[in-house]
Amino acid sequence: MTATDRFRIDDKVALVTGGGRGLGRAMAVGLAEAGAHSVVVARREDDLAETVALVEKAGRRCIAVAGDVVDPDTAKRAVETAVGTLGRVDILVNNAGAYDMQPIESTPTEDWRRVLDVNLVGTFEFTKAVGPHFKAQKSGKVVNVASVLGTFGVGMATAYCAAKAGVMGFTRALAMEWGPEGIGVNCVAPGLFKTDMSAGVFENQDFYTMIMAGIPRGVHGEPEDIAGTVVYLCSPASDHVLGQVVHVDGGATIS
Ligand SMILES: NC(=O)c1ccc[n+]([C@@H]2O[C@H](COP(=O)([O-])OP(=O)(O)OC[C@H]3O[C@@H](n4cnc5c(N)ncnc54)[C@H](OP(=O)(O)O)[C@@H]3O)[C@@H](O)[C@H]2O)c1
Repeated sequence: MTATDRFRIDDKVALVTGGGRGLGRAMAVGLAEAGAHSVVVARREDDLAETVALVEKAGRRCIAVAGDVVDPDTAKRAVETAVGTLGRVDILVNNAGAYDMQPIESTPTEDWRRVLDVNLVGTFEFTKAVGPHFKAQKSGKVVNVASVLGTFGVGMATAYCAAKAGVMGFTRALAMEWGPEGIGVNCVAPGLFKTDMSAGVFENQDFYTMIMAGIPRGVHGEPEDIAGTVVYLCSPASDHVLGQVVHVDGGATIS
């Protein structure tokens, strides 16, 4: 197998949470371009339908499962759909996330807990649901999506920073647990990308300028800029890479 062959994931089946738009959609399309079919999960069915159309345009099958990642039933349905309709599950991308910015004294507990639930408990539920399949086939790839805010702190984002640091810790612990079973577990930590989630940054010129001053590459990310790293971490090319956090941030975390 040549080095470039090792990036192919032909006929593998991926499960991508938060695949309705933004980074998750770009990941599903990138995985399709590398050969994989996918099941995409989000709450909005109209967004999911658009992703399905784009993956099919790339020549692969794609099935939408609507639901909240925090609900264990969503993970169960997604895995059953992958195995029942597409025949298997090989890749899990835990991408669904929620962001919140509030001063800690006035943050309602339910808001704080919801950020942890979507980013961290959703990741746990989907990972738990693919576990029996990955272990039975002695292979599989898990890619968790954290953030540069799991590496450094930003005021008023305590829940998000805690959750994303938690995703990084979860990645390392799971890699210890599943690595010996032949399962790859890694994490990507995006910097600023232009999506619905980051719209507030792009609408606030001062905030945007401040963030851009800390990005050595001098540009923000577009969703397609994350796809190659995710394909790599889902492919045999990354088989000897385990428990790592790959920052895809234009260099924001290097100084
Ligand atoms: N954009 C950035 O600058 C940036 C930077 C660092 C890290 N990240 C991380 O990258 C990931 C993707 O972010 P993004 O920018 O693409 O966000 P986005 O544009 O807001 O898209 C998020 C996707 O996740 C889905 N989702 C959210 N909550 C969900 C839930 N409870 N259950 C099921 N699906 C849910 C959304 O669909 P529904 O609303 O229809 O459910 C949507 O499809 C997140 O983990 C985020 O924290 C983003």
